[in-house]
Amino acid sequence: MTSEEYYELIIPYQDAMNLLLGRLDVLNHSLYKEKGSSSRPVHTVYSRIKKHKSLDEKLARGNHDATPSNAREFLQDIAGIRVICYFEQDAYQMIDALKRQNDLIVVNEKDYILHPKPNGYRSYHIILGIPVRYMDVTEYYPVEIQVRTLSMDFWASMEHRINYKQDRSDKEQIQAQLLKFADTLKDMEQSFEMYNENRPILRD
Ligand code: GTP
Ligand code: MG
Repeated sequence: MTSEEYYELIIPYQDAMNLLLGRLDVLNHSLYKEKGSSSRPVHTVYSRIKKHKSLDEKLARGNHDATPSNAREFLQDIAGIRVICYFEQDAYQMIDALKRQNDLIVVNEKDYILHPKPNGYRSYHIILGIPVRYMDVTEYYPVEIQVRTLSMDFWASMEHRINYKQDRSDKEQIQAQLLKFADTLKDMEQSFEMYNENRPILRD
């Protein structure tokens, strides 16, 4: 697609993403109030609109022509938000709170926190349909949200970085290491969670 088509295409996705970012901010404040705890669940929020080149490439990978209508039809991650929480419990609270927003539509969700990918990747992915109200019409646009903890984000960022070097000979060894690191990080996070004040953990 042309640059003009791309910039026209992304406008409503940007709108939907901005609406959801506002929503997330309110939830972060209200979850914190509700718990009476001294800390908010969210550490950082990142957001991005898929770049023109990656959008065209992703359509091509799916054997679709790179047209705006194919992008609207086949891509659900044109708008993406990453919510980084402190602990797993915080992540699930954010997810529940989001799902309870009754004007938002859950299009799809994948719990890679409870069910990690074979390589060790963990994160909760949820695609929400966000109503965007224009002058006379309301339209829903999808936004992909990845909710994860700081330790899951550390792992995913490092793995992403390392795997850019596809041609290395020690690949299998690294994959085994990555799986071990995922375990270690999970243990470490659980230890921190036990020390987290104001947050009694039910363990037997
Ligand atoms: P995509 O075509 O990438 O959208 O795949 P999918 O539709 O099967 O989605 P999935 O939920 O598996 O993953 C989508 C996004 O999650 C990716 O674009 C990454 O941001 C992230 N992700 C998924 N798997 C991994 C992984 O193994 N490592 C890292 N670093 N990120 C991952
Ligand atoms: Mg996807």
